[in-house]
Amino acid sequence: MARGTANNPCCCPAATLWLLQRITTIALVACSVSGAKWTHGNENDRLALLEFKANIIDPLGVLSSWNSSHRICEWFGVTCGQRHRRVTRLELNSQGLSGTMSPHIGNLSFLRVLHLENNSFHSRIPLEVGRLSRLGYFSLYNNSLHGPIPPSLSSCSNLVSIILFNNKLQGQLPVDLGFLSKLKRLSLGLNELNGVIPASIGNLTSLVYLFMQENKPGGRIPYTLSNLRNLKELALWGNNFVGNFPSSITNISSMEYLDLSNNQLVGTLPLDLGITLPILQDLDISQNQFFGPIPKSISNMSQLSRFVIQYNNFTGDVPSFQQMSNLSWLSMAVNYLGTEQANDLNFLCSLANSTTLQWLDISENNFGGTIPKCIGNMSNTLHVSSSHANALSGPFPSSLWDLIDLEVLSISSNSFSGIIPPEIGSLNKIKALFLGICEFTGEIPHSLGNLTVMTTLSLRGNNLTGTIPSSLGKCQSLLLLDIAENKLAGAIPPEIMSLSSLSIYADFSENNLSGELPLEIGNLKNLGDLRLNGNKLSGEIPSSLGSCMSLMFLYMQDNMFTGPIPSTLSSLKGIEGKLPKEGVFANTSATSVLGNKELCGGLPEYRLPKCESTGKSTNGRVRTASICTVSGILATTLVLLLLYFLWHRKQRKTVASSASKDGFLKVSYRDLLKATDGFSSANLIGTGSFGSVFRGVLGLEQTAIAVKVLNLDRHGASKSFIAECEALRNIRHRNLVKVLTACSGSDYLGNDFKALVYEFMVNGSLDEWLHPPVRTSGEREDIPRQLEYGAGAEVSINGDVYSYGILVLEMFTGKRPTDNMFGDGLNLHSFAKAALPEQVLQIIDPVLLGESQNKDDSRGIRRSQRSHERLLKIQECLVSIVEIGVVCSSEVLRDRMSMGDVAAALQAVRNKLLGS
Ligand SMILES: *[C@@H]1O[C@H](CO)[C@@H](O)[C@H](O)[C@H]1NC(C)=O
Ligand SMILES: *[C@@H]1O[C@H](CO)[C@@H](O)[C@H](O)[C@H]1NC(C)=O
Ligand SMILES: *[C@@H]1O[C@H](CO)[C@@H](O)[C@H](O)[C@H]1NC(C)=O
Ligand SMILES: *[C@@H]1O[C@H](CO)[C@@H](O)[C@H](O)[C@H]1NC(C)=O
Ligand SMILES: *[C@@H]1O[C@H](CO)[C@@H](O)[C@H](O)[C@H]1NC(C)=O
Ligand SMILES: *[C@@H]1O[C@H](CO)[C@@H](O)[C@H](O)[C@H]1NC(C)=O
Ligand SMILES: *[C@@H]1O[C@H](CO)[C@@H](O)[C@H](O)[C@H]1NC(C)=O
Repeated sequence: MARGTANNPCCCPAATLWLLQRITTIALVACSVSGAKWTHGNENDRLALLEFKANIIDPLGVLSSWNSSHRICEWFGVTCGQRHRRVTRLELNSQGLSGTMSPHIGNLSFLRVLHLENNSFHSRIPLEVGRLSRLGYFSLYNNSLHGPIPPSLSSCSNLVSIILFNNKLQGQLPVDLGFLSKLKRLSLGLNELNGVIPASIGNLTSLVYLFMQENKPGGRIPYTLSNLRNLKELALWGNNFVGNFPSSITNISSMEYLDLSNNQLVGTLPLDLGITLPILQDLDISQNQFFGPIPKSISNMSQLSRFVIQYNNFTGDVPSFQQMSNLSWLSMAVNYLGTEQANDLNFLCSLANSTTLQWLDISENNFGGTIPKCIGNMSNTLHVSSSHANALSGPFPSSLWDLIDLEVLSISSNSFSGIIPPEIGSLNKIKALFLGICEFTGEIPHSLGNLTVMTTLSLRGNNLTGTIPSSLGKCQSLLLLDIAENKLAGAIPPEIMSLSSLSIYADFSENNLSGELPLEIGNLKNLGDLRLNGNKLSGEIPSSLGSCMSLMFLYMQDNMFTGPIPSTLSSLKGIEGKLPKEGVFANTSATSVLGNKELCGGLPEYRLPKCESTGKSTNGRVRTASICTVSGILATTLVLLLLYFLWHRKQRKTVASSASKDGFLKVSYRDLLKATDGFSSANLIGTGSFGSVFRGVLGLEQTAIAVKVLNLDRHGASKSFIAECEALRNIRHRNLVKVLTACSGSDYLGNDFKALVYEFMVNGSLDEWLHPPVRTSGEREDIPRQLEYGAGAEVSINGDVYSYGILVLEMFTGKRPTDNMFGDGLNLHSFAKAALPEQVLQIIDPVLLGESQNKDDSRGIRRSQRSHERLLKIQECLVSIVEIGVVCSSEVLRDRMSMGDVAAALQAVRNKLLGS
């Protein structure tokens, strides 16, 4: 291939482009190919643009029109002034470009608009942009630019808008930016900027939008902000700002959106806050250390729609919300509000006519008394209500019966007593019901069986008596059932053991349950955690228990079981593996793990073999556990489990503080788009009522993730999704996949984009979950036809390589390992292997071979004389790639390549294809 072609993809057929793109994706690219430089003599703009082009990689060939057959004003993305024909706009956003930003861009001296956002530029921002004295709009967001914001930018005195969010920019905000007197929008969020916000920011008197969230500025919020009299939106969340509430802000009566959450601010709120910010719509000061009362003046903020003050130290009464006709979001959780007195919740009556309220969370405060009658008038759109962990008492609050649209109700950890009334069955939209750790007595109402969309039910830790109603068997959506620590008697109804939806957790422990275990227990094929201990269950353990393939945890001790342990239990692979060091396993004298041959790790006293090295695992977390718990569970259920543990957290604050120390991954819409291949249906692994879940591989670290995205079409979903995010973003539990991040960024249209990103396991890949790897014994697992199944193969680096190999084959053949064609000894690996080397083109995804498929040519590539040579080259490359896939997915462990070799090999393939 001729030199120069590499950067001139118009000369290559679509196939080469697709290939390049995909190789780039699969290779752990440590390199960037910098192309040959073009030098022609021409006028300034033209030269500058060609220099610009020469430094970028353009896999989609969008710059192919940048050649001598066209005038520059006709080049893609370029706009010239009418009169002088100089370049005034350069708009190459979202074109898949990568490479560096050439300093020669500074020679486009008539440039007014520069849009390079949503690409992968990974250089510094060249100082020379400071020469663009006419520049008004400067947008480079969603790239990987690093280094400082060039101080020279302050020379571009016509700048109206600087949008640089979601890059890797470092250093301090240049003091001289204060000279940009026309600047209206400064958006620097999601970078690594540190130092302090310079006081000169107060000189930006035209500023309307100031976004600096999720950097590391530290320091205080400068008092000069008070000069920004036109400011409407201020986002400073997720930094390390210290000091008091910036009272300078209260001079800015134009403010509509104020987010100071997740900083280290202390002190009290200004008493006149509600009067000085009269048109505020969105106030989020959560996760700071504010204390004292919520100012009464808040009641004047009649436009307020979101009021979020959770995780602070507020005390005293809650003011009235009566004037706020748009209020949709109210979270005051985890404070010290209330006095444990009877009338603490009377403020809820001020919400009585609120038709817009969707989310109400007052959990973990000091509220006493009971839930007042008046809330029955409250909007029937209220979806969530939580008064978990307060000092509420009295009978079950009957005022709740009128909230017929309630989806989540949590009143656990209070002192409610008396029976759980049968009317509970009328709240038939309930998805999650938490009534645990109260003082309820009497029987579990039969009417709970009416709640057929309920996924989570906790009645744990009450004084419930009687038998377990068989009507619960009608709750066919139930994923999690916790009725432990009551005084329930009688047998476990077979109907409950037939609930195949139960997948996360079923806890019957510490009751007086008796009788035999129903044979139907074998239906709990998806269940990860079953607890029956501390009852009077008797008889033989049914051998059908061996069908509960997903079981990770099984507690049966402290019962009256007799007879042999059924041999079928040996098929419960999930419950062996690495032994935790915490929990019951910390007490070596009280716990025995004898006779479990597959166990490893644990405290030294157990004398178990060391677990096979899994890389960087040093903490005692049960990695196998996370895979197995994950297996068989769609992410919606994970979310609910997370919620479950959230609502049962007992120690206040610990969660919040550990999370802020950790810091979450910074992930943008674009990153997720990339990671999931444009949210492609091939990566869709599940949909739930809240949204869809995609698998993906994130960033250069190639982190395997699952992304849960809100269904953007459904407005209602948005609300519930935000609710989840609010609830979840700090939660970790050892049995759960880690939530890497949540709720950040905006999509290309600037709309809020909400996603939860889960990690699948520390160093592994999602594919292992989707397509369990070969066991180390060499025995092949059945390829699962459904996600609801899985296997807890020991995680190892080799396992990762295997998954990688399968992924490579998947990407290049376009066939999933679960494709219907596989079976009967044929799998993706053997299929690919058999095609090597001559038939490789026949198994390749036709998409890769280009759209220009010639029907007469079964090999999918038009074979003109000219392209014959290239075809051979492509074929060679494909053979190499498929070989890599095949070798990596080899059943024999030692045949697999190291990732280093894989990277090198792919690098070589790429170079060959580029002809360099
Ligand atoms: C851009 O301007 C600088 C300084 O005037 C000059 O050295 C450089 O050659 C110019 N670049 C191009 C591509 O014309
Ligand atoms: C220039 O670009 C046009 C349009 O993309 C293309 O048709 C033409 O072949 C190119 N010319 C050269 C000399 O590369
Ligand atoms: C900011 O404004 C002050 C007073 O108007 C002026 O003295 C100072 O030079 C300005 N600084 C910057 C960086 O704009
Ligand atoms: C807030 O409450 C926590 C927990 O009680 C306490 O450790 C912290 O010191 C308090 N912060 C302030 C500023 O009062
Ligand atoms: C709710 O509306 C009713 C009827 O319009 C009115 O009498 C009552 O005062 C209102 N309550 C609140 C708290 O606004
Ligand atoms: C439960 O459902 C049954 C049958 O659909 C109905 O008769 C009963 O009234 C319901 N109970 C409650 C409390 O809604
Ligand atoms: C259950 O009832 C007993 C006495 O009947 C009482 O001592 C105990 O505190 C109650 N437990 C709960 C959790 O209410």
